[in-house]
Amino acid sequence: MKIPDAALAAFMAQCQERLEHSFDAWLPAARTHPATLHEAMRYTVMGGGKRIRPVLVYAGGHALGAEKKALDRPACAIELIHAYSLIHDDLPAMDDDDLRRGKPSCHRAFGEATAILAGDALQSLAFQVLSSGLVDGISESTRLRMVKTLALASGSRGMAGGQAIDLSATGQTLNIAELEDMHIHKTGALIRAGVVMGALCSKTAEQSDIDKLDHYAKCIGLAFQIRDDILDVEGEAKTLGKNPGMDQANEKSTYPALIGMAAARQRAIELHDEAMESLSGFSDSADPLRRISSYIIERER
Ligand code: IPE
Ligand code: IPE
Ligand code: MG
Ligand code: MG
Ligand code: MG
Repeated sequence: MKIPDAALAAFMAQCQERLEHSFDAWLPAARTHPATLHEAMRYTVMGGGKRIRPVLVYAGGHALGAEKKALDRPACAIELIHAYSLIHDDLPAMDDDDLRRGKPSCHRAFGEATAILAGDALQSLAFQVLSSGLVDGISESTRLRMVKTLALASGSRGMAGGQAIDLSATGQTLNIAELEDMHIHKTGALIRAGVVMGALCSKTAEQSDIDKLDHYAKCIGLAFQIRDDILDVEGEAKTLGKNPGMDQANEKSTYPALIGMAAARQRAIELHDEAMESLSGFSDSADPLRRISSYIIERER
């Protein structure tokens, strides 16, 4: 997609290029035995998606002067977790979606059993990437903190837990606090982990800086899912790369369904303002984070 903000587009393109290199290095070749599984993993991960979580790792690190080389692994790991979450999210037992990133979803292309395993294997690979070998300038204790951050964000008190709330909320009417709690977990947790892992890679980060970035990320993580809910109502498959209208068809609890489109938009703007406020003490090194926040609430896909 064309991103109207040229500076952000350039920043994202740089991050995406580094990321593609990491994927190629870490994902087993498609012909590696068992080939169908590796094909399914590559099919899902390579060449697609906005890569917003890895971009946030790089932007979070950039805000506190971390080196790009140190950020490559957490950036790669978080997108692997995200890819796994998309595969499972699309399964018939969950959202039953046929289209993802402009092509048949993983289970439509490879069958359900392989899709489940590809998700499992991508999750494991994420932790392999974070924990193997040595990385210049990153201490073992920092790596351990990153592993823990990603594990917590992915698990039953993070993304997977949020997905469980999403399933049990299907056909129910949540109140706004419950809806917010669901979104903060299913989508916000990983976005938050991305920014925090980036910050952890800085050699000079103070805990107070990390806390401010964490609050920024909490706000944009929720705004991200609100925008996703809005796009499910008013977006087009051609732009989104996924079928719109699925939330209503599946009786999902969403912002537009609960408070209406105008109020949902307004809530996203408020969260953007709050995110910007958290960055007020940062220099222009936090500009990529500022630009990403605007992008998140304006994006068309
Ligand atoms: C989709 O995430 C799933 C949500 C958590 C809303 P993205 O909108 O980041 O999907 P890709 O990675 O760009 O395909
Ligand atoms: C998905 O939320 C959140 C995940 C953890 C993958 P959605 O179900 O709304 O995501 P899309 O719209 O299918 O991408
Ligand atoms: Mg879902
Ligand atoms: Mg879905
Ligand atoms: Mg959605």
